[in-house]
Amino acid sequence: MKRETDTTSLDHVAIVVRDLDRAVALYRDWIGLALERVEDLPERGVRVAFLRAGASRIELVQPIRDDSEVSAFLERRGEGLHHVAFQVPDLARVLSDLGRAGMLVEQEARAGADGTRVAFLHPKRTGGVLIELVEHESRHPGRS
Ligand code: CO
Repeated sequence: MKRETDTTSLDHVAIVVRDLDRAVALYRDWIGLALERVEDLPERGVRVAFLRAGASRIELVQPIRDDSEVSAFLERRGEGLHHVAFQVPDLARVLSDLGRAGMLVEQEARAGADGTRVAFLHPKRTGGVLIELVEHESRHPGRS
């Protein structure tokens, strides 16, 4: 299958860290990115910080409890790159192709931050990179 468009873009790069304040200081004070917000997401067991990098963002993710969604990753692999997220214009359509090819972690999209819909490609099918696809609902007014 071939999919090549100029509407797909890099949405964010997510990095798992042990110390969010220290990581924010690195990316804001040394690299020069603007801090957009810091947010606790108790249902995921994490605190996240978003820093603007042009049209994309860096998402820093720190676990705030032992059974968070990134705790196993942090234990096994240590701090570092967790996933790369691409913004796609029509997630449902992309997912039906990827689902048929057996490339999705879960077959259905789920709710992400800020009213987005997200889905993940299995790293075993992507050369070891966890890829997230993001659709921003606000780009499709009138759709739910
Ligand atoms: Co993400």
